[in-house]
Amino acid sequence: MTEKLKVGLIFGGRSGEHEISLLSARSVMDAMDRSKYEVCQIGITHQGHWLSGSEVLEAFERGQVEHLETVAIFAEPGMGRSFRWAEGRALEMIHELDVIFPVLHGTYGEDGTIQGLLELADIAYVGAGVLASAVAMDKCLFKQVMRANDIRTVDWTLILSTELQDEMDEVIRRAESVASYPLFTKPANLGSSVGISKCRNRSDLMEGMLEAARYDRRILVEQGLEAREIEVSVLGNEYPEASIAGEVVPGDEFYSYRAKYKDDTSELHIPASIDKEIEQEAQEMAVEAFQAIDGAGMARVDFLLDRETGTLYMNEINTIPGFTKISMYPKLWEASGLPYPDLLDRLIELAFMRQEQKESLVRVYEGEA
Ligand SMILES: Nc1ncnc2c1ncn2[C@@H]1O[C@H](COP(=O)(O)OP(=O)(O)O)[C@@H](O)[C@H]1O
Ligand SMILES: [Mg+2]
Repeated sequence: MTEKLKVGLIFGGRSGEHEISLLSARSVMDAMDRSKYEVCQIGITHQGHWLSGSEVLEAFERGQVEHLETVAIFAEPGMGRSFRWAEGRALEMIHELDVIFPVLHGTYGEDGTIQGLLELADIAYVGAGVLASAVAMDKCLFKQVMRANDIRTVDWTLILSTELQDEMDEVIRRAESVASYPLFTKPANLGSSVGISKCRNRSDLMEGMLEAARYDRRILVEQGLEAREIEVSVLGNEYPEASIAGEVVPGDEFYSYRAKYKDDTSELHIPASIDKEIEQEAQEMAVEAFQAIDGAGMARVDFLLDRETGTLYMNEINTIPGFTKISMYPKLWEASGLPYPDLLDRLIELAFMRQEQKESLVRVYEGEA
């Protein structure tokens, strides 16, 4: 019998999307083929404590984590393992891990920070690396990279929270020169629509910018569209493939936090009922954008389709998209012919491929022979 792969599933985390991560992790856990994988569960609390033990996910779901033990993964190559502090404060290895699957959404999970730790530990992990994660997380940097690659986005301007305090008049002038109302205000580095406002006039705009500034130093003001929301799933490393397109129909005025998680009125339409040419354009733009940020493994690429003009705009890339069985990312693959358990196999395979590539690189230049 071949040995099972030991997969470190990391979930929870310090972001506002902690609970969504638990839902995603539950689906991943339940679907992993136990004849191939041994799953080692590591939960991160809202405060940032790393915990492991038995039935970790269940403990997190119930909110009863007292019996779990503190664990750590060290930032040292060859230590792709998790350790606990045993009696007498000695370190004891508890899991030897072959690959990590971070099922963490948002800050400290999807933004390159945990990916940085996994790079230092030199262990294979699912999904995008440090650079792609960080670029996809920052809505301003992301748009700049799209512009540099001729991938269409709406117009925007970046405002720093310090500017709001010191130069409000100038900020308003700049924000209003982006486009006519409605404008959208957003914190640059967040997700789940938190801190995002649709602004119809100057007073909304001021309020929206101040609201976004509660969450980030960097604030975006962008052109608001009357738009349909189209999404495409991407899978791969060097040769990414795009799924068929889906559509989100928000149950709120826009796809707000409430529409995403609080009520059942939002709908996912798979496939999206859009023209074949638009779907093809979305797929091409999705792959180009994925490559432009140096994506790896997976990403869900979200578009705004202007109802008036039929023009497609790149909105954002999520490098660790929602992963429940009813989430758009896996459902689009399922509808494209790749069932959920096979998608997990593929992602783990891609993680190993990326790790092998890294291992084959020269790290120390020894000069010409
Ligand atoms: N420029 C825009 N025009 C129209 N609607 C927008 C625009 N930007 C965002 N929205 C709406 O707000 C939602 C959240 O914005 P998004 O940029 O996707 O942030 P998040 O990372 O929080 O999902 C979108 O799904 C969409 O409904
Ligand atoms: Mg979004």
